[in-house]
Amino acid sequence: MGNPFRPTFGVTPPVLVGRDEQIEAFTEALDDGPGAPGRAMLFSGARGTGKTVMLNALEDAARLRGWLVISQTARSGIAAEMRDTQIPDLLHRHVSGIVRNQLSGLTVTSPVGGLGVTRLRVDDHPEVASLRSRLEILTDALAEHDTGVLITIDELHSGARRDLTVITQTVQHLFREEREIAFLAAGLPHDVAALLDHPGTTFLRRAEHYALMAVTDEEVREALQVPIEDNERTISAEALDIAAAGTRRYPFLIQLVGYHTWRADESAAEITAAHARQGVKAATRRLGRLVHEPALNSLSEVDLRFLLAVAQDDGPSRMQDIARRLGVDASYAGQYRRRLIAAGLVAPAGYGKVDVAIPYLREHLRSRPVRELT
Ligand SMILES: Nc1ncnc2c1ncn2[C@@H]1O[C@H](COP(=O)(O)OP(=O)(O)OP(=O)(O)O)[C@@H](O)[C@H]1O
Ligand SMILES: [Mg+2]
Repeated sequence: MGNPFRPTFGVTPPVLVGRDEQIEAFTEALDDGPGAPGRAMLFSGARGTGKTVMLNALEDAARLRGWLVISQTARSGIAAEMRDTQIPDLLHRHVSGIVRNQLSGLTVTSPVGGLGVTRLRVDDHPEVASLRSRLEILTDALAEHDTGVLITIDELHSGARRDLTVITQTVQHLFREEREIAFLAAGLPHDVAALLDHPGTTFLRRAEHYALMAVTDEEVREALQVPIEDNERTISAEALDIAAAGTRRYPFLIQLVGYHTWRADESAAEITAAHARQGVKAATRRLGRLVHEPALNSLSEVDLRFLLAVAQDDGPSRMQDIARRLGVDASYAGQYRRRLIAAGLVAPAGYGKVDVAIPYLREHLRSRPVRELT
């Protein structure tokens, strides 16, 4: 039997747990028609909380309903790519020749085109207008089949702000025209927060915003046990306790712990407590390499020092202790606190307190080589 777990970013897990609420809200919104609030959703969450996998699941749900999907990762140039490549491709593959000719006519005559010209407003950006007119042709054609277009954008960040402005303004127009269109986007919390502050992307603020977080203990157990039993092995009650606790309810760790617990001894029919212990240990080591180190590498020296001061405590730290350890005043320490909260590395933990925000980051910081402490 092959290992059923999928500890790879962007790869759908064997059992996707804890996401029924969002999937249901989205599919209901597709069925309810234009104007349903769940047709625009925004997901934020730390690395490995399952943003990409969430988008994939919703794309699949849309495809099952006959919707076409335009899937993108935020970067500069995607608005033009959608307009010039992805939409023409979809038209070519799914829409009749008559409509295709409209599109080629449009390309030749003018970027604004004849369709929808009366609806254009003077403040329209030419790029918004042209992307919009193509999406109008596509949604017009799909309307005959009672389906629509889903646009998804993963890895939102402010570097792609210009393109995101063009795309979100376009989608906003199409929503207003009550077309069959849906929009989903996802990103790390501080990237999403930065974009929400930007006036060009106001539309994002109206989307239903879900902060993807830890799943429940029960869901973790299901996500571990079901793939094991589906693949003709069993896991003892004690082993399941150990493996589940080891994940700290963090989606990426469900897959990592599952994967390494499974492979501890593939010849054994039952996964034992010893296998689970070994699995958790191997998983946390890899987490350090895959998640903690990349996050720490992007920090400035002072930010790192703040984090190390937090990691000295076994639980939430009092800000006054942190300031004392760093030899700085409270308002100075407060600035680091805000920056690291925005980076998703620490989280507020009650009045005047902070705590590390990623599982095992405390342990990882404590075990880092001493030379990096200075
Ligand atoms: N709900 C879930 N149940 C079980 N496993 C999950 C769930 N969500 C995500 N995973 C697993 O966690 C890992 C990370 O998922 P994903 O790549 O979607 O995270 P992400 O939030 O997009 O991370 P990044 O910020 O790095 O892009 C994958 O191995 C995926 O299979
Ligand atoms: Mg991702």
